[in-house]
Amino acid sequence: MNLYSICKQQVYETTMKLVDADLIRLSYGNISMRLPDGNIAITPTSIPYDRLEPKDIVITDLDGKKIEGHFNPSSERALHYEIYKVRSDVNAVVHTHSRYAIAFSSVCMELPVICIELFFAGAPIPVAPYQCPGTAEVGTSAAAYFKKRPDLKGLLLQNHGQVAVGNDLNEAYQMAYNVEIGAEIYHFALQTGKTPNILTEEQVADIIRQYRLPRALPK
Ligand code: 13P
Repeated sequence: MNLYSICKQQVYETTMKLVDADLIRLSYGNISMRLPDGNIAITPTSIPYDRLEPKDIVITDLDGKKIEGHFNPSSERALHYEIYKVRSDVNAVVHTHSRYAIAFSSVCMELPVICIELFFAGAPIPVAPYQCPGTAEVGTSAAAYFKKRPDLKGLLLQNHGQVAVGNDLNEAYQMAYNVEIGAEIYHFALQTGKTPNILTEEQVADIIRQYRLPRALPK
């Protein structure tokens, strides 16, 4: 197997993990990784996950020019590429249309630090203002948040979903999971009618110490 085939397989396997976790359905959402040569392996547009095969993953350059693949790259490629351009630490991006992310994004509620899942994803998780899905603006708008907050691993996209990033595919998968599960937990907490407790700076500092994390305190 050559490098591109290995990376296509890895993107495919992460995609299937996201399907199994019910974070992506039908053909909504998309997954990519940055390759050692600087090119990108990304899921194709509009191919249902139950028909997807490793060979269907598309290789493009960072401007979206197709290098290898029989399908077109994801319609959300600008979302992925713009984030790679501003965050050299990011080597994988996951975009989902998961239900709790869409729900909170549609009422423009950020996700506060109420649990370790959201903390690890960089909470408070902001909401990027609505842009038409599939446009370059989705990418430039989201990338501005990731550029401004180098510790940010997840972002809600208003009326659209979420995008999560990682140093590798596994971390991007975990961050997408953390954002969605964190949003679900926040939803259940709000259902009680009481105000969820937000962790204090001191409590967050304790978590950082406990897990020896490099992250700066959230503002
Ligand atoms: P694809 O173009 O990757 O199928 O994605 C659709 C989508 O997720 C729109 O946001």
